[in-house]
Amino acid sequence: MRVGFLGAGLIAHFHAFGLAESGEAFRFAGVHDPDHDRAEEFAAGWGASACASEDEVLDGCDAVYVCTWTSEHARLVRSAAERGLAVFCEKPLAFDADAALAMAEVVEATGVVNQVGLVLRRSPAFALLRHLVADPAAGRVMSFGFRDDQYIPVQGMYASTWRGDRTRAGAGTLLEHAIHDLDILEQVVGPVADVSARSANFHGIDGIEDSVATVVGLADGGAGVHTTIWHDVLERPSLRRVEVFCERRYVSLENDWEGPVSWSTAGEDHQTLEGPELVARCAELGLVTGNPDGAFVRAATAGTPAWPTLRDAVRPHRLVDAVYRSAADGGRPVRV
Ligand SMILES: NC(=O)c1ccc[n+]([C@@H]2O[C@H](COP(=O)([O-])OP(=O)(O)OC[C@H]3O[C@@H](n4cnc5c(N)ncnc54)[C@H](O)[C@@H]3O)[C@@H](O)[C@H]2O)c1
Repeated sequence: MRVGFLGAGLIAHFHAFGLAESGEAFRFAGVHDPDHDRAEEFAAGWGASACASEDEVLDGCDAVYVCTWTSEHARLVRSAAERGLAVFCEKPLAFDADAALAMAEVVEATGVVNQVGLVLRRSPAFALLRHLVADPAAGRVMSFGFRDDQYIPVQGMYASTWRGDRTRAGAGTLLEHAIHDLDILEQVVGPVADVSARSANFHGIDGIEDSVATVVGLADGGAGVHTTIWHDVLERPSLRRVEVFCERRYVSLENDWEGPVSWSTAGEDHQTLEGPELVARCAELGLVTGNPDGAFVRAATAGTPAWPTLRDAVRPHRLVDAVYRSAADGGRPVRV
């Protein structure tokens, strides 16, 4: 299994690390980035070969990671799919849900193994949160608060100027970062019925919102609040905090991967799990968690479906679109 890379930035290194750690049988093939220094550095670090063009990568691999800025995703996914390559594409797939749907249709029409970078689907902390909320003992979801925040990534270790360019990023913190949240939110609290949102642009970068607050109405009658913020506190890492109030259980989650997850159930002692203990509990419960890159390369090798697919990303794209529509219309509720 020869694995190529288009884009050699931060997330490409993250996936290379995940592949190297996975223990799966594969080898790094070509890597291309218009920033040649980045491609060279990636090649030297991971034993890949720096390629002068996208075609050189695509012609020399069996599976490819699309890790470029968002505006390039659709074109590169199509090129990969037309060659019959397994393809892992980063989120967001595109600027809007219709474009994301068109990408899903391309990979489905060509029948290639495909996976999207909605990695919270494999997070042990979110898997346990979902399990605790779905437990009949918890009762129905009444309300929730879901917050993500990070410093605006045009600076600091991200230093990605493209995130301040709407022609390459499409929009700001909601599309670029919080699409993860809207995806996992529905997995945890159930189907969303409507959204009512306010957004702001404190940094004044054209088309790049940096604060969005959304009242999220659930099909089952509950409602909660989602907020996403790009601030300037460079000392603070990218963080998430979630609280879910069910009829007979309260659950909170901090951090993206290994918790802590804490919960109180009516009539029982408060409990907390974190780190290896949390991961072990997920394994006992048979929850699907772990390394998304190992899973991708395994599926690509076996020719079996990967998960989550590009099709799975269409729904969170629809939610993102609805939030933007509501915010543009003064917070009017938009059904999804
Ligand atoms: N799943 C996650 O948690 C997660 C986290 C961070 C970023 N991302 C996504 O990954 C993508 C890249 O983000 P990043 O943080 O790595 O950005 P980055 O700026 O570190 O790297 C992007 C690289 O893509 C290169 N590039 C642009 N067009 C290209 C092309 N046609 N061919 C090859 N390379 C090209 C750029 O030169 C740049 O080096 C974005 O879509 C972003 O939203 C996902």
